[in-house]
Amino acid sequence: MRRSAMLLVSLALGLCVQTASAKVTESDFGKTKAGVEVKKFELTNKNGMKVRLSSRGAALIGVDVPDRDGKVADVVFGFDDVAGYESDANDYFGCTTGRYANRIAKAKFTLDGKEYKLAANNGVNHLHGGKTESLDKVVWTGVPFEKDGVSGVKFSYTSPDGQEGYPGKQDMTVTFTLNDKNELKIDYSAKSDKPTVINLTNHAYFNLGGAGSPTINDHVLKLNADNYTPVDDTLITTGEKAPVEGTPLDFRTPTAIGKRVDELTKTSALGYDHNFVINRGDAGEGELVEAAKLVDPKSGRTLTVITDQPGIQFYGGNFLKGNKGKGGKTYGHRSACCLETQVFPDSPNKQGLEGWTDCVLRPGDEYKHSCIYAFGVEK
Ligand code: GLA
Repeated sequence: MRRSAMLLVSLALGLCVQTASAKVTESDFGKTKAGVEVKKFELTNKNGMKVRLSSRGAALIGVDVPDRDGKVADVVFGFDDVAGYESDANDYFGCTTGRYANRIAKAKFTLDGKEYKLAANNGVNHLHGGKTESLDKVVWTGVPFEKDGVSGVKFSYTSPDGQEGYPGKQDMTVTFTLNDKNELKIDYSAKSDKPTVINLTNHAYFNLGGAGSPTINDHVLKLNADNYTPVDDTLITTGEKAPVEGTPLDFRTPTAIGKRVDELTKTSALGYDHNFVINRGDAGEGELVEAAKLVDPKSGRTLTVITDQPGIQFYGGNFLKGNKGKGGKTYGHRSACCLETQVFPDSPNKQGLEGWTDCVLRPGDEYKHSCIYAFGVEK
């Protein structure tokens, strides 16, 4: 057989094998108010697990996973259409968050001697990349792929120099990959043409009983963290690290979220909304470590969060107001939680602080971040 013919045959065989175990489809999700087309992607693995993604905000908009009896439910918050995502009811549901996720004190920072002003969209502070053109609100370009038994979508977006006040033209990709072990991997990468600050994450809200179930307080959480980063009354990190020992933040032994949450109701976080310092042991840069495990004892569904990042924000849905989401379901106070892998909050204002994280991205360097949301069941 001629080499080109052989190549065609092996390519065709390859595609058959791949589509049997991993599939991705692309469809129109609608248009933004500004008339920009939004695409929706659906990944399916050989177990029938499905992941849905939207190009607006490079967002995770659906995850269908079975419970211990094989009953499938969608476990992440979202909306049925683009208008829902553009409405006030959207509290960063499933989005790629940035250019700097979490808070930046007084909405400003200084880099190489120059001060940069950002939008104060959370009291006096800056939150999740800004007001109108943060990464959750822009439309990314998504390219679906199927290869080596996995399926995925690679989203890309170039944030112009000065967008939302951040310096540098920043080229970014966020790649979602679903494998046959029910693991959804998210790989972030970014480059900038000027020194800048960066902290990307995903802001999915999970309820393993099915999104719209009334509470997250019955879920059992384990956090691989001996320390957390305390905050002031505007939720800005103080620059300290404090032990979780003896506090309601000690999740080193799996504990129901609701067991001690009321001890935190009167704090400015209104409940769980803390960044934890992941115990990384001897793991080097880029090495993946288990940061968290969430279990829903009722359904048996589990979610393990594995990352190469130094921190994880555990947010217990304290600001949810009971708005309606997918299928008219109500997303109430503390009915889901986010487990957001990232650098420590307010790193732009803590440059050089011993033991703190680096968030500066310089031309020629590449920002990289990986996070795996691994789904399973317990009997
Ligand atoms: C993050 C923050 C919370 C809150 C939510 C969005 O997870 O930690 O304080 O701002 O986003 O409502």
